[in-house]
Amino acid sequence: MAATPVPLWALVWIIAVVQCKIPDARVTCLFSEDCLLPCAFKPSGEELIRWSRQEVPVHGFQQGADLLDQQDPHFQGRTALFPEQVAHGNASLLLRLCNTQDRGRYRCHIHTAQGDQDAFVIVKVEAPVRSLTLEMSRLSGYKEVRCSSRDIYPAPHVWWSTDPPAPPDALKPTTRKMPEKNGLYSVESKLRRLGGLSDYTYFCTVNSSYDTQSWRASLREREMLSEEGRDLTIPCLAPTGLQNFTLTWTFARADEPTLILTFHSQTQHTSDRWAGRARVDPDRARAGDGSLRIQSPQSAEHTGTYICAFSGPRSRHAVHTRVNVTATAVGRSLMDGPSRLWIVAVVIAALVLLVAALALYSRVRGEHPAAGKPTEEATELEAVEAAKDKAENGTPSERSRFTREHNEERT
Ligand SMILES: *[C@@H]1O[C@H](CO)[C@@H](O)[C@H](O)[C@H]1NC(C)=O
Ligand SMILES: *[C@@H]1O[C@H](CO)[C@@H](O)[C@H](O)[C@H]1NC(C)=O
Ligand SMILES: *[C@@H]1O[C@H](CO)[C@@H](O)[C@H](O)[C@H]1NC(C)=O
Ligand SMILES: *[C@@H]1O[C@H](CO)[C@@H](O)[C@H](O)[C@H]1NC(C)=O
Repeated sequence: MAATPVPLWALVWIIAVVQCKIPDARVTCLFSEDCLLPCAFKPSGEELIRWSRQEVPVHGFQQGADLLDQQDPHFQGRTALFPEQVAHGNASLLLRLCNTQDRGRYRCHIHTAQGDQDAFVIVKVEAPVRSLTLEMSRLSGYKEVRCSSRDIYPAPHVWWSTDPPAPPDALKPTTRKMPEKNGLYSVESKLRRLGGLSDYTYFCTVNSSYDTQSWRASLREREMLSEEGRDLTIPCLAPTGLQNFTLTWTFARADEPTLILTFHSQTQHTSDRWAGRARVDPDRARAGDGSLRIQSPQSAEHTGTYICAFSGPRSRHAVHTRVNVTATAVGRSLMDGPSRLWIVAVVIAALVLLVAALALYSRVRGEHPAAGKPTEEATELEAVEAAKDKAENGTPSERSRFTREHNEERT
């Protein structure tokens, strides 16, 4: 059974219609901002303009005046035409304070004495990502990395990566996209930390649903031990290829961050709040090495968290370094492992001095004229050493006896 051939006249008609049809205009409106829906026509005077969306009246206009009696409440007070433009064939509609319910296909219908004209506009609404938060969750004991943002429409895509790259399937994020009251989405993605605290840099990337923009944040946490008075360099490197950034160093001791300095890669301007005590090398910073050097840090003053952040357009790369500047006070430094050698050395030196002092003492006594039996005393001194050795082997009585005798002799 052969298909009935399409008549030639029908084919020509279809082609003509397709070619004449003006393609729909596409407009992406920003959430809570004003938006212009374009519509142009051939002016002839006496037009009746009707904007509608899926047969719902949006705005009417005739002879320089709005016709709003049929307007849908959804659009109430938010629409306008430009009367002075209409005479020039411009029937564009201004839609104020756009929201997610404004999406759809709008029809601009122009009725004139010469005939009717139609134009269509497809309206999308977008609430772009405006910020991205990446942090180690304190609640989980810093075992979870959390990436979040809010007030986004449509719901964005989130994905993770690490540096060095984690083994495949090692990253198992859980991502939640939650609608908010205003019709927008908040998004939260969590990841279990891999390995030790400072083994990886975590990257969170959020793309808007239309892929019109991409936000990226990275975070690295690390810890450093340092000694009071010794110059300290806290490393911080930007991801490769980062341009046009602001480098900011802040310091937080008890949840109250204070600014140390900022550096702008383009102006190379540095503003320094720590009066020269902390600095970055401008040439290195411009090349992405924002390491901070602190002159003779003090324990109480400079122990805390140093936050280095490279912020660029739609990106923020941060390194949090918890620095512990240990005091060099004797009591404290004795606690450290290597310092035990010092204790041993000091004890040995003291013993040597003691023995030398005793030897010297005995000689002085020996030369003393009042000394009765010098040779005897010398022997006694030898006995001291012997007694000491014995005493250490558990005969304290001998030692005490000697001391008694010795004291009697002195008096
Ligand atoms: C129509 O008028 C509006 C408001 O003045 C203007 O922004 C828009 O560019 C005009 N459109 C055309 C096609 O001239
Ligand atoms: C995210 O957006 C960026 C820039 O808009 C684009 O280059 C990239 O391919 C997007 N990624 C994905 C997975 O869509
Ligand atoms: C950085 O800024 C310069 C000057 O404003 C501009 O020419 C360049 O395209 C910018 N680079 C990036 C990656 O934004
Ligand atoms: C710093 O290190 C010392 C010794 O290692 C430790 O006793 C002290 O608790 C540490 N301080 C902080 C704030 O971590």
